[in-house]
Formats: sequence, C-alpha cells, structure tokens
Amino acid sequence: MADTEPVTIVVLGVDDAPAGLVLSTEARWNQNEADWRFFLTNGIVFGVRDGTDLVATAALLPYSAGNAWISMVLVTERWRRRGIATRLVDACLDAARQGGLTTWLDATPAGATVYGPLGFTPTLQLRRLRLEHPRQEASETLAIGDLDALNARDRRAMAFERNALLAEFGARAGSRILSHDNAMALVRDGRTARHIGPLFADSAEDALALVDAISRTETGPILIDAIASQEPFIAGLTGAGWNIERPFQRMRFGRATTQGEELPFAVAGPEFG
Ligand SMILES: CC(C)(COP(=O)(O)OP(=O)(O)OC[C@H]1O[C@@H](n2cnc3c(N)ncnc32)[C@H](O)[C@@H]1OP(=O)(O)O)[C@@H](O)C(=O)NCCC(=O)NCCS
Repeated sequence: MADTEPVTIVVLGVDDAPAGLVLSTEARWNQNEADWRFFLTNGIVFGVRDGTDLVATAALLPYSAGNAWISMVLVTERWRRRGIATRLVDACLDAARQGGLTTWLDATPAGATVYGPLGFTPTLQLRRLRLEHPRQEASETLAIGDLDALNARDRRAMAFERNALLAEFGARAGSRILSHDNAMALVRDGRTARHIGPLFADSAEDALALVDAISRTETGPILIDAIASQEPFIAGLTGAGWNIERPFQRMRFGRATTQGEELPFAVAGPEFG
C-alpha cells in the first residue's frame, strides 16, 4: 500500500493473532496472543494491511442483550493521522448497526479524540493502576471462587451476561477466580503484567483486602482497571504502593441500555469492558 493509495479494510482471521500482537505490543499494551485469539474467534476484527504487514486493527465484540464492545483500535506509528482509525471504527459501527447493537468502548486519551467526533458520548471513567513489586508475604488463605458466582455478579454489574468471556478467561492456564469475605475477582496473565479484574465487593474494605491478599501471592507486576468513582478503593491502592498509570474514558454509541445494579471495583479490562 503506497501512502497515497486508498485504504482497503479486510476482515481478519484467527491466523492474524501473532500480527495483532505485534501491533498491541508496539503500543505497549498488555494483551497476549490468547486475547487476540478471543477477539478473532468471537468478534469481528477489521484490519488494514501494507503488503503482508498488518498495520491497523479495530475489533467489534458482540456480547448479549444488544450490547457490543469496540476495542483493539491500533494504527502503527507510520500510518497514523490519515483517517485509518476513523475508517476502522466506522466499519465496526456499521457492523453493529446491522446487528442492532449498542456499542461501548473504554478509550485512551488518544482514542477519545477519534471517537468523540464519531458520536460516542462519555459515561464513566476508569483508572489503570499498577503494582510493580508485590510484597511476597504470607497472606490469609483465599477461597477459590466459582465461575457461576462470578458470572452472576458480572451480570448484575453490566446488566447483560458475558459468560463466554469469563469462561474463556477462567479456563486459561494461570487464571484464578478468588474470593475473600464478600469480594470476588478474576486474575489472569497478560503480556507483561498479571491483571486483576473484574472485581466485585460489598465495600471498599472488602475489595482492598482481596487485592492485598492476591498481591501477596504474585511475583511480578500486576494491573487493575478501577472504576474512578470508587475513590476510597483507589486511595487505598495508592496508599499500598499502586501507581495510577493512565485514565480511560468509557463511551457509548447508541441508545442507553439497562443500568447495572452493582458498581464493580475493577473491570475486566478496557478492551473487554
Ligand atoms: C489513537 C489511534 C488509533 C489513532 O489512529 P489514526 O489512524 O491516527 O486516527 P485518525 O487518523 O482516524 O484520526 C482522526 C482524528 O482524531 C484526532 N486524533 C487522532 N490522533 C490524535 C493525536 N495523537 N492527537 C490529537 N488528535 C488526534 C484528530 O482529530 C484526527 O483528525 P485529523 O488527523 O484530521 O486532525 C493511534 O494513534 C494509535 O494507534 N494510538 C495508540 C493506541 C491507542 O491509543 N488506541 C486507541 C485505543 S482507545
């Protein structure tokens, strides 16, 4: 593809997972190949190639009850500011429109500059926090949580079910569903850091106790994508050595769907909601 040629958008297949990983790694994101395979198998991933090189992507991941997530909006540095992300997100929106889906996304500050003009409106905010060096000390024994209970709480929070996503996460080597008092979370591998989320709890104290117990069992860096309005939770994390890395803005395109009955403390990740 020469710089002046019109861009051709193609639908990617599961064999594109390694090439997708190259793009998300260039952006220093934490997705691993399993994440890409999930998008490529369960969603529609649009892409742009330069010869055989994949240079841009955007994914539409349908969930349930007329909702879908847009994510993995990536354009390699050399191809930026030529309208490629806009075209790819438009392709996602077209596909969503055909399926009658309301689309959601969690935008990086750079992404929000693309989505605002397309008609996305802001909803809640997230904060990504990172703990670089977990303290490896004895912790209270964590109970092994069960997938059905996690699905039920996730459904109360999202107002629609994501059983297939949580089942796939839970089945990955290295994933754990853990609970402590009235808190429950899923922990999974990422490319460079482990990730805690979604995380549900009856109180900030319960949520912090669970994160503390989990972090004592971890050996490397951990990420958590907290809901910004859960202020005592975020204050507790920063007090315990977690650093706020970046904000994400949740945005919606289309009619408002049902509100969740429970506000989570942390989400599954900006790419999954
Ligand atoms: C964000 C990203 C996908 C944009 O891709 P892109 O193909 O360059 O975006 P577009 O060319 O469609 O940009 C459309 C408009 O968005 C705005 N915009 C895009 N990138 C911007 C930036 N870095 N700073 C300010 N405005 C920006 C501009 O208004 C732009 O229009 P213009 O070029 O006519 O001024 C790309 O920079 C990227 O991959 N960044 C790293 C990963 C990332 O943050 N992805 C978004 C996840 S939510």
